[in-house]
Order: sequence, then structure tokens, then C-alpha cells
Amino acid sequence: MSKTSNINRVDGFAKVTGSATYSAEYKTAGVVYACLVGSTIAKGRIKTIDTKKAEWAPGVLAVITHLNVDKPAGYEKAKDKHNFGQPLQIFKDDSVLYYDQPIALVIADTFERMRYAASLIKADYFKEEHSTELKKAAEKEKKVETDKGNDYHRGEHDGYKNAEVILETEYTIPTEVHNPMELANIIAKWDGNKPILYTKSQGVEGTRRSVAGVFGVPVEDVEVHAEYLGGAFGMGLHTWPYEIAALIGAKKLNRPVKLVLHREQMFTNVGFRPYTIQKMGLGATKDGKLTGLTHEAVAMTSGYEDFMEGTVNMSRFIYDCANVSTRYRIVPLDTCTPIWMRGPGEATGSFALESAMDEMAYKLNLDPIEFRKLNYAEKDQEQNKPWSSKFLLECYEGGMERIGWKNRKNEPGSVKEGNWLVGYGMGTGTFGCYRSPTSVKAKFLANGDLVLQCSVNDMGPGTATMMTAIGAEVIGLPSENVIIEMGKSGLPKGPTQGGSATTSSVGSAVHDACNLLLNKIIELGSKNPVLKGIALTDLTFENGAVSSKKDKSKSVTLAALLSSNKLEDFEVENLSKAAEEAKKYSIYSFSVHFVKVLVNPNLGKIRLAHVVSCADIGTVISQKTSAGQMFGGAVGGIGMGLMEALEIDHRFGRPINNNFADYHVPVNADIEKQEVFFVNKKDPISNPMGTKGLGETALVGMAPAIANAVFNATGKRVRDLPITLDKII
Ligand code: MOS
Repeated sequence: MSKTSNINRVDGFAKVTGSATYSAEYKTAGVVYACLVGSTIAKGRIKTIDTKKAEWAPGVLAVITHLNVDKPAGYEKAKDKHNFGQPLQIFKDDSVLYYDQPIALVIADTFERMRYAASLIKADYFKEEHSTELKKAAEKEKKVETDKGNDYHRGEHDGYKNAEVILETEYTIPTEVHNPMELANIIAKWDGNKPILYTKSQGVEGTRRSVAGVFGVPVEDVEVHAEYLGGAFGMGLHTWPYEIAALIGAKKLNRPVKLVLHREQMFTNVGFRPYTIQKMGLGATKDGKLTGLTHEAVAMTSGYEDFMEGTVNMSRFIYDCANVSTRYRIVPLDTCTPIWMRGPGEATGSFALESAMDEMAYKLNLDPIEFRKLNYAEKDQEQNKPWSSKFLLECYEGGMERIGWKNRKNEPGSVKEGNWLVGYGMGTGTFGCYRSPTSVKAKFLANGDLVLQCSVNDMGPGTATMMTAIGAEVIGLPSENVIIEMGKSGLPKGPTQGGSATTSSVGSAVHDACNLLLNKIIELGSKNPVLKGIALTDLTFENGAVSSKKDKSKSVTLAALLSSNKLEDFEVENLSKAAEEAKKYSIYSFSVHFVKVLVNPNLGKIRLAHVVSCADIGTVISQKTSAGQMFGGAVGGIGMGLMEALEIDHRFGRPINNNFADYHVPVNADIEKQEVFFVNKKDPISNPMGTKGLGETALVGMAPAIANAVFNATGKRVRDLPITLDKII
């Protein structure tokens, strides 16, 4: 990918000039404005809901509640209501399952009238006792929900207990909220019985399936547009009540309905990283060989949907260890359903594992990297398979050199710069490399441009840029001549953008479709009189023409080829899938974040003086967008490490800090010096380009790297995120 690996983000210009169209920005004739009114209790039933004043307010077109809703046809058919992925059955009955659960939809002819009318709705409730505190709920409910397949044991159960040196610790991660810049938003309309959605979704096909299920219509009848996303981080991986509500409203009025959540509703109605309590047990020999590792996690889910993630999974394979046990439980609370948030599970799990590894290294008086190298896994012991490729040691080396690890001292608080205590820390990350079946259409236009089509979204990582880079490289075109069409239904089916799998899935499909296009255009060229008789293997497509490899004078341009065949363009569509061979290997990306913090011992202020993020992600397709992912992931990790926590007032089961003044999110300027290092070695197994995936590993390991650096600076071990000033002075 040499020629194209540094191309600019192809959607960059549209995004920074405002010409990119986000869901709520589509020009739609006759659009009306809607909002959701939420419950003011966390659990119970609606006794009365007074909508009269709102209905009589100027410009109001409809007020929909459980009392007057035309229930979507799929509500009756829904199976086990706890099945994850099934959206909350909004307005189904009088029950309230969480604070701010939508209890009414107000639609008016202008935005202002809609907001005013919504303020007039009043409800009374039969209150029931709610449960929003994981610590309490986990203690009280002995029999918690469990993912039965998820208990794992290798060797002796809880074998760490028999070790020479034992560490037992507990860590908590509070609820964190995605909070992308773009609010959740939709324009919903119907064409007869066919729903049309312009919505903030990370998966066009997934949204089609869930909307089809709710409304009882064929999947092919659901039209979804999500061409640009202003960030999502995982919140777009589920269909939420606001989308269903807008569709219900649009159907009732037979008009397009626009609904944009308020920032406060982003904290209550579109998922979040679940509050999680983790217990670690580590056992080692005195000279630093891990002999046992137990990782247990208890996480919250909602009362109506069982959400689970891979919190303990990394502990099963990342280090060489004979005796490993992992357990994972979920406990229902009276909240909205949690959802994957960048590096889902693994980011949470890595905080516990990589903090515990650091604590054990101190106990053994070993350098934390030395300790990790002593326990380097030569193969995947969980799956008993070889790695497809693993350049984790290169990440350690690359990071140590760049951060200046040699300046670190194992004794906490022993390095100073002026009045500031200096600390160095690191955290390892990993994420599986997945590849979903993906269809891509590749098309030559008469002017030589290449069009690539796939329904996959680009929520910001640079998917369109990656597709451009691969298409340009395979066909041998300048990247300016590649046109990407994506993010809507009706295009060849792509995967949901999630799980760091988009480049492996869609990139491979682009690669395969472009190679097929080359073969087919050469085949077409071979029938042209100019090239007649030349073997296919002696023909090539270069500089917009099919030519003989041996005699360059024998050449037919693409334009001539199309016109002689009376074609306006020339296209192929191809479905691309993982090779069987890949199943023999364990395929993971690896990352290591290195952090240098400065801590003011009097004020507790923590500065991120230097961050170096290293990753083995196989081949790097686009240096710029990959580096952007890595920078953004590290910055997200500062939020996790130092700032973010959704505070709940458990007396009422509602959030306190549901705004940007009180819920702090990090920005790029929070890191004073930031570097990214990619090993950039092709994985021989993963896919034709040898990529492995990046979006999640960009975050996994960052929070523990900060916590470990803070310990190195201060001697204070913070096991409950975020690390706020009060916890270290
Ligand atoms: Mo990612 S949490 O799969 O958007």
C-alpha cells in the first residue's frame, strides 16, 4: 500500500466545510418536529398522563402515548423480551423501566412549538422501588443473570491461590457515556408501508433488520440512510426508542418527522459503557512467572435486555499462564440497556488486568515490561492455536525508546521535574480480528474513474479513505479517480461498522472486487480486434487501457472498449469472505500505550506530559487515518482514566451530571506530546491486505497505563476510575 498509504481523508473537506449531510440535515419537504418526553421516576407505572394542554397548544400535530399509540405489528411477535438487540417496546403499556424512559412523543409544525408543547405534559405514577446501584444489587441478588458459556477454566480452578506470591485486588469502572459530537437524530418517513429512515446508525443492514422486526415489514422494504456520522463510538450499534418513536409518529401523520435528542437524553436513552466491578487474582513465582490468573467481572445490564461484552476475555490468552479462570455475570438494573463503547469489554477488562499486572510487578520488584516479557505468550493458550502474527515485543521496544522508559525508576515518587512528580506507566491492549462477509460493487466509468459501492457506514475512522486507498492501489489509479458510495441501503450489503472489523471485511471486499474487475475488463479487452489472439495472461490493464504486456502499441482505452461494446460503464459485484485457512490461527491486534505523567503533589493535578501509543495492526492501509484513530483512542482513554463517570442520584435513580459542564470529556489538548508507532508488518493469514484492525485497540490499555503512571509518580494506587484529584492527595 505504498503509493496510497498517506492519502488525505477523502471526506475531510466535506466534513470541515459543512457540506457533509448528517441525518437530521436532509432537506425533506413537509418535515415536522418531534421530541420525547421522559419519565421522572426510575421504576413503576404511569397512573395518569395529562396531554390535553399539549394537544391544544399552537401548532401541535400529535401527542402519542401508550394510551393512543397504534402499536407496531412486531410487538406481539417479539420473543423473549430479554434478548439483546430487541429495542425497548416504546409506548407498549404503562410500565416505566428507567428514568427518562420516553412516555410521550410530541410533534408540532415548528421546533419551538414542539418544545413548548412538550413542557406542558404532566404524568403521575405508581412508584415502585428501583435499583440503580450495581454494588448493592450485586450483593443483594445472589442469583444474578449469567452468561452460561462464559465461565472459563484452564488448568486448576483459581490456581493462583497456590502461588508463591499472590495478589488479590478489586477494580471498578463507572458508567461512561459515548457522547459523540453529533446528537442521536433521525428523519423518519413512510412510503406506503415502507419505512424510510435517515438516522445515526453504525449499521445500515442491522437497522433495517431491527426496524423490520418491530414493524413487521420485510427487511428489503426498509430504506436506511446513514451516510455521515459525527462520531458514535458504539452508540450506533443498536436501534433505540427515539428511532421507533419517530417512525410511529411519521406513520400516524403520514409526514416526515424529525427528532433530535437533547444532550441530556444522550445520557439516558442511547446506551453507555456499563458500570463494572472486577476482581483479579494473580499468582506468580518469586522470579516472576505467572502461575495463576483469575478474572471475575460483574456488570450491569438493563431490566429488559441482557447486554454482555468480553470484559474477561483478554485475561485468557494475553499472557502465558497454566491456570486461568474467568467468570462474568450481569445484573439487571433499572436503566436503559448498556451498549458497546469503544474497545468494549476489553477496555474495561484491560484496566483490571493491566493494573493488576503492574501491582504484581511492584510486588516482585520487577520492571513492569520485564514482568510482561517473562510471561509472553508464544501461542494462544485459550484456543490452542498459533498466532497468525504477533509483534507485541516490537510495540514494547518502540514505546520504551520513544517515551524514555530508561528514565523511569521503580521506586514511586523518586523522579521529579521541578515541583512535579514524574511517573511512567504502560498498559497492553488487544482485540480480535474479525471479518464479515461483505459485498462490494466495483465499476469503471467511461472517463476512467472507479466507483466503489457498499452499504457500510463510516462513523469517522476513515473507512471511505481506506476503500479509496485499496481500490486505487489494486486498479493502479490515482486516489482522486476513486468515487465511494456508501452508508445507505440498496447498495451491496456491507457489515455493521463495529468491532474493528471494517477494514478486514470491507477492505478485503474492495480488494477482491477490484481484482475481479481487472480480470473482467481484460477479458472484455481480449475480444477487441486490436488485442485478438493475445493470451489473457499477456494482457494488462494500465493507465486506463487494456494493453499487451509485450507490445505496448497494442492497446485499447477503457473509453473505446466501453463504446465499442455499447456500454456506459462496466461493473462487477463480488461477495468476499474469510478463508477457511484463517480458522487454524488465532488472529489478534496488539497495542501498548506508554504514558508519562506529571503530578502536582499539593494539588493532585495530573498532566499527560507524553503519550506514545504503539500497535501491531498488521498492514497499515492509511497512515493518516490510522494515526488519527490511535490519537483519538488514547484521548478517549484519558476520559476513562481521569474524567468520565456518570453520577447517579440513587435516591431517584437519575443522573446528576447529564451535561457537558459536569460530565467532563477529554480533548486533544489534554495530551501535551503524543506519538503513534505502528509496527506495520503484514499479517500473512488475516486477509489479502494483511490488516488486523485498530479502532478498539487504540483505546484498550490506555486507562491502566495512566493509573500505572500515577502510581509510579505518587505511590497511590487508584482502583476505582476515574482518577480524580481527591483520590491522589
Ligand atoms: Mo465499536 S464499540 O464496535 O463501535
